[in-house]
Amino acid sequence: MIRKKVIFTLFFMLSRIGIFISTAKLQNSISLSRNIRTVSAIMSKFELPERFKGNEKSVWVEYIQLALKYKPLNLGQGFPDFYAPENVTKALAAAATSENPLLNQYTRGFGHPRLVNALAKLYSKLLQRDLDPNNEILVTAGAYEALYATLQGHTSPGDEWIIIEPFFDCYAPMVNTAGGIPRFIALKPTKTTGKVTSADWVFDRKEMESLFNEKTKGIIINTPHNPVGKVFTEDELQFIADLAKKWNVLVVSDEVYEWIVYEPYRHIRIATLPGMYERTITIGSAGKTFSVTGWKTGWAYGPENLLYNLKVVHQNAVYTCTTPIQEAVAVGFEEEIKKFGQPDCYFHSLAKELLPKREYMAKFLCDVGMTPVVPEGGYFMVANWTALADKVRLQEEEDANKDYRFTKWMTKNVGVQGIPPSAFYSDQHKHLGEDNVRYCFIKKDENLKKAADILLKWKSQQ
Ligand SMILES: Cc1ncc(COP(=O)(O)O)c(C=O)c1O
Ligand SMILES: *[C@@H]1O[C@H](CO)[C@@H](O)[C@H](O)[C@H]1NC(C)=O
Ligand SMILES: *[C@@H]1O[C@H](CO)[C@@H](O)[C@H](O)[C@H]1NC(C)=O
Repeated sequence: MIRKKVIFTLFFMLSRIGIFISTAKLQNSISLSRNIRTVSAIMSKFELPERFKGNEKSVWVEYIQLALKYKPLNLGQGFPDFYAPENVTKALAAAATSENPLLNQYTRGFGHPRLVNALAKLYSKLLQRDLDPNNEILVTAGAYEALYATLQGHTSPGDEWIIIEPFFDCYAPMVNTAGGIPRFIALKPTKTTGKVTSADWVFDRKEMESLFNEKTKGIIINTPHNPVGKVFTEDELQFIADLAKKWNVLVVSDEVYEWIVYEPYRHIRIATLPGMYERTITIGSAGKTFSVTGWKTGWAYGPENLLYNLKVVHQNAVYTCTTPIQEAVAVGFEEEIKKFGQPDCYFHSLAKELLPKREYMAKFLCDVGMTPVVPEGGYFMVANWTALADKVRLQEEEDANKDYRFTKWMTKNVGVQGIPPSAFYSDQHKHLGEDNVRYCFIKKDENLKKAADILLKWKSQQ
């Protein structure tokens, strides 16, 4: 009897455990499938929005990662590796520690009053027209945000923007994500051997003309140009201006390198051509002007009605930029305006300082066997590396474009990093950038010398 009871109890307990186990299993698998459903629901609901798709790749993200891993001599990204002018950095320290507590608080959203006043003073003189500091200038988080606010604020779905290749790589994604359609035209070298300069790179005028139509909203130009270094001539700018007027379109002029132009070339602002101020938004950068790229402070200027759209975008995205940095940039401008036209004015001295670096780089790239395109402005140099093709094992790299393979192979095996220019072309034109590499020469002399030594030593061992 007792034994029966025990067996029964045991059986009963076991079955309960069994039921328990199978319920747990069931619950587990229910919750697992519920989890899978939840995860996939989260994944599909929170995917990257359609308008950003196709804009995910960034050469900067990839190449900064590469530099961190291989620690090459980095001639890739465009910034100085030496101290910024003392006056502006001191002005920043003074602003941050000022007796005026408000210099560390929010300032006027469309631009710190002292800075818009300084900018208006400078550009009124350069444009020979009175700019209204409160309505014709907008201060932004770098030239980048000025471009963003312009393209967001002036693009409706289907609007076409003409972009000249190679282009600063954010132009196309900014047009795409605003619902616009980029139409590309490439600068092409008219000469590829011997002494080549950026003046040899031109756009085809017939092709340019053919891109303008009823849907064109605007054209983006960049002078002095990154990466080629071209300084557009008055004749080229007038040709673009005439088409802009004929088709009633906007001109966005990215002039962040306006103060880096080498003799005898001159920077011409397209906004100064007859009838052009009315349809031009010009963009500048304190980072480039004062060699403080980490300050990420820029601006746009142009007629009040055109700037209005940018202000709406800015006010709903950034609202106001950093106060102490705007104060310091204003002080920098006030000092340079006083020295304007004198050799020690930073606007003139920077290009003079960079000229020997440009000459030095052009020479060592030639000595290595590349054909550099000597820039008329800016601090980048593109060089044709194809004569070295049999010395680099491009098959060891996997990228689709040869210049990506070349720059990666050189970074890993030789120790000098450049940027692949095909990043600055649309998909259908990437092949036009593949023969070149872009180097930056706003670097300490000793680092340029190191780069030269590394490359020449490598060459001699081949
Ligand atoms: C042509 C061009 N436009 C705009 C920018 C962005 O300037 P910022 O650093 O002021 O945003 C750069 C920076 O390299 C540039 O080369
Ligand atoms: C700094 O400012 C002073 C006074 O305005 C000027 O004399 C000097 O040239 C400036 N220095 C630099 C490096 O710009
Ligand atoms: C690069 O150099 C080669 C050889 O001279 C030439 O055939 C090619 O057109 C050049 N490419 C560019 C983009 O200049």
